[in-house]
Amino acid sequence: MDKVYFYPVWIRVWHTINALMCLALIITGVSMQYSSIENPIIRFDHAVAWHNVSGIILTFNYFIFYIGNILKGNGVHYKILWKGFWPSIIKQFQYYAFGIFKNQKPPFPINKTKKFNPLQQLSYLFIMYGFVPVMVVTGWALLFPELVVNDVFGNIGLFITDLIHVIAGFVVSLFMIVHIYFCTIGHKPGSHFKAMASGYHEVHE
Ligand code: HEM
Repeated sequence: MDKVYFYPVWIRVWHTINALMCLALIITGVSMQYSSIENPIIRFDHAVAWHNVSGIILTFNYFIFYIGNILKGNGVHYKILWKGFWPSIIKQFQYYAFGIFKNQKPPFPINKTKKFNPLQQLSYLFIMYGFVPVMVVTGWALLFPELVVNDVFGNIGLFITDLIHVIAGFVVSLFMIVHIYFCTIGHKPGSHFKAMASGYHEVHE
């Protein structure tokens, strides 16, 4: 068994802040969306303030991820090799749906150059370069609606921005639940969490 240093300090710091801020945004977001003013889960003005602060921290943290991926080379793990891509996705899906219950070996085990399997890669790519940026941009637009949204598009612009923000937030929340579940599927249930905590991933090949 070998160990590969896949999660340097900057990724672990980014990931911890990202996870904490997403949790704070989900809790305050759900409170603002679903609790009534008279009977709030969190007092409305407090929920708004915490939601704004968490969103601002998440934004600056996102830049660490974006720039770090470029400067430190971690971005290669997000680059999709289209040749044979869909068959690999299907293979990985079949493993999660059936193979895993028959004690089969994973079709794309972690190796020294690949830290994500194809489904992981696709979901991380969609979330980190799709839904999170959309959530961030619409969040800022809602923080300063008078700057563009209201001026250019009026009330309908504000409504659409809000709708996109809520949908993106919902997808990121769903991702987080599924992501944590899939992180338990490793050599041992705690292997991936141990890797993210220590930086070193075990490679069993
Ligand atoms: C409490 C919440 C979370 C936990 C416990 C958690 C856990 C983990 C673990 C264990 C890994 C390593 C996966 C592996 O070894 O293959 C990981 C990686 C990752 N997580 Fe999370 N995660 C959480 C929240 C999030 C959220 C909210 C996002 C995005 C919105 C996210 C995005 C990612 C990404 C992109 C990676 C890969 C990072 C890289 O190496 O480039 N995680 N997470």
